[in-house]
Amino acid sequence: MRILFVASECYPLIKTGGLADVVGALPGALAAHDCQTRVLLPAYRGVRDGLSKPRKIAEFRGLFGGNATLLLGRAENGTTIFALDAPHLYDRPGNPYVDEAGDDWPDNHLRFAALDLVGAHLARHGAGRWRPDIVHVHDWQAALVPAYIAQSSAPRPPIVATIHNMAYQGIFPADVLADIRLETDQYSADGVEFWGRINALKAALVYADMITTVSPTYAREIRTPAFGHGLEGVLQERADRLVGVLNGIDDAVWDPQSDPHLAASFSRFKMAPRHRNRIALQEAFGLDADDSALLFGVISRLTHQKGIDLLLESLPLILERGGQLALIGTGERHLEQGLRAAAAKHPGRIRVRIDYDEGLAHMIQAGADALLVPSRFEPCGLTQLYALRYGAVPIVGRTGGLADTVIDANPAALAEGAATGLQFSPVTAEALGFAIERAFELFADAANWRQMQLHGMAQMFNWDRSALVYSELYRRLVDGGQVDTN
Ligand code: ADP
Ligand code: GLC
Repeated sequence: MRILFVASECYPLIKTGGLADVVGALPGALAAHDCQTRVLLPAYRGVRDGLSKPRKIAEFRGLFGGNATLLLGRAENGTTIFALDAPHLYDRPGNPYVDEAGDDWPDNHLRFAALDLVGAHLARHGAGRWRPDIVHVHDWQAALVPAYIAQSSAPRPPIVATIHNMAYQGIFPADVLADIRLETDQYSADGVEFWGRINALKAALVYADMITTVSPTYAREIRTPAFGHGLEGVLQERADRLVGVLNGIDDAVWDPQSDPHLAASFSRFKMAPRHRNRIALQEAFGLDADDSALLFGVISRLTHQKGIDLLLESLPLILERGGQLALIGTGERHLEQGLRAAAAKHPGRIRVRIDYDEGLAHMIQAGADALLVPSRFEPCGLTQLYALRYGAVPIVGRTGGLADTVIDANPAALAEGAATGLQFSPVTAEALGFAIERAFELFADAANWRQMQLHGMAQMFNWDRSALVYSELYRRLVDGGQVDTN
């Protein structure tokens, strides 16, 4: 079976978060289930350079103010990539969504409409002899593909849309409708219209044959107003087409036995060297060389979603109990400032890097005693899965994929040796504080803590199972059969 992915990120070519990890790893795992995937990506600055053996396979003239070339090449990890090279849209500094000052690119509607028009073209006509049997679009940046495909009644492949985050919907003023080549009758309550504006994500929810999201709990949550960000009604209507498929992790990229970023390799059968990574982490961040402190790690976008304000409120408690914190992240200015101020006041105990650095993220996972993920909502979350694999005990809000992947250290779970981390609910500063207190108590009992680490490291969160689920879903769609959403 041939699958066309359309997405705005793909590790290792371009990454700002978990979407890239998923789009980068799932094709490799799908190959084991007889699914050959090609990923359509914008050729941002950097993506072109990262492609091996790119060749031109098509041209698109007059694509929103310039000409574009479609390149076919491979990413370093072997994934086959269609890169849409449209310099007037993508050859810019900054990240895929925002300029260097952190503001959205003003032409984002055109940048991703261009990607999606080409995605719809590939869906119908393929490239050379290659034609997709399934089109799989990811998040709002790819969500107009089904809307463009719906503009014609010609035969088409089935469409799967995956929601990685309901909080980002791609909302644009109604008057760009014609500019992005949507039809007037698509601007309706059962089309892309959303409170007088255009909502790109809604297009995918309305026009796709199957909607998936990245954990079973999030699939339930987003049908409620608290998590649906205004689209809960649409999702309720399409509940028979909505399924949660838990993400996996790329266990070749995230493997403490072979990770090139670590000071020492380790595994659950050989834990002693892990300590060297703890020392290396303290050194790299400039934390006091303290062997007994409970060392918390955080690797996160600094946003309201991720509960970083709750973490700021909990810093006095961590300090009071003699803990340490190593954090890496970028995001909202006031959170960056709050973290910087705390670090300046308590050097040696709190250190933050306002930066994005893949290597340091790996070092934190390998060296921290615990990883804090106080998210208010979390569609899946990957950092807690990496933490489990690396022996950093995850402390998470009980929501979305965090609830589905961490087994709380309650007395029963501890007695059975089943615990892998700590959960807290509701996601408030107070409940986070209790969880942190609980972590200090558990950490004081070294044997118990080690048991929790080892049990976490024994969990299997690789892509095998999820790739099987996706491949079965594709097959049922291609065969025109029913899709089971339970
Ligand atoms: P989200 O996609 O919502 O940001 P996930 O937990 O799914 O959250 O994925 C985040 C990914 O981005 C992980 O691979 C994590 O290691 C990485 N990451 C986040 N912030 C940073 C950072 N500042 N430096 C390096 N990697 C980061
Ligand atoms: C989004 C979500 C995150 C998820 C990731 C990959 O960025 O915020 O929870 O793990 O997508 O699906």
